[in-house]
Amino acid sequence: MHILLLSDIHANLEALEACLAATPAYDRVINLGDVVGYGANPNEVTERCRQLGGSWVRGNHDKAVCGLSDLEDFNPIAAEAALWTRQVLTQENFAWLRSLPQGPLQLDDIPGAQFVHGSPLDEDEYVITARDAVEPMLSSQPALTFFGHTHLQGSFALDSEQIESRRPAYQTIGQSETVALPLQPGLRYMINPGSVGQPRDGDWRAAFALLDTETQVLTFCRTPYDLKSAQDRILDAGLPKRLATRLAAGK
Ligand SMILES: [Fe+2]
Repeated sequence: MHILLLSDIHANLEALEACLAATPAYDRVINLGDVVGYGANPNEVTERCRQLGGSWVRGNHDKAVCGLSDLEDFNPIAAEAALWTRQVLTQENFAWLRSLPQGPLQLDDIPGAQFVHGSPLDEDEYVITARDAVEPMLSSQPALTFFGHTHLQGSFALDSEQIESRRPAYQTIGQSETVALPLQPGLRYMINPGSVGQPRDGDWRAAFALLDTETQVLTFCRTPYDLKSAQDRILDAGLPKRLATRLAAGK
């Protein structure tokens, strides 16, 4: 089975469409949360996600937008975008986002893997460094954990002695590219497919990943998208300017 892994789309329709156009064939989609928040197309993106089907876990922005958590932990820009999103969402999309399940999610047909937004121990926790990843990896039954939330594409691999942190090494800054990571038997992994709609690893391109469950190869992908259009929509919506400018820097 080929699984398309999406995370942190953040209402960026241009980035989502670019990923769907760039991805090789897949059998199902798993979405690691933050469908909305920051970007200017929450309804269009939510509807596209609903069409795609598959499995989801909720993200902290999905929760905040739907009133399942308060905005206390959000910076002022994120809070403003969450309130704007809440106002513009249709009732149907709001109800759908509100019903997204809390991770970790395990699926009968994908044994040995779990899917979370932040960490398997806490859906809102940021796993940024190898040190952050050790406890969640050691305390999880499944050997493979897919997560999002940090908007940083990459992997942590743990054997009996050490943990290795890796970011895919791309060759260009503006083209569609892939980097394969063959998963080694016996290792434990935490893998972040990166953020579709608001990357923060210094690469402006939309990020996603594919897992081939037969060959056990994970493929990290980056693809350019219509950045200007996504930025213009944010500005036209009256959302904070920083949400548009940061997309160009991928930070
Ligand atoms: Fe996010």
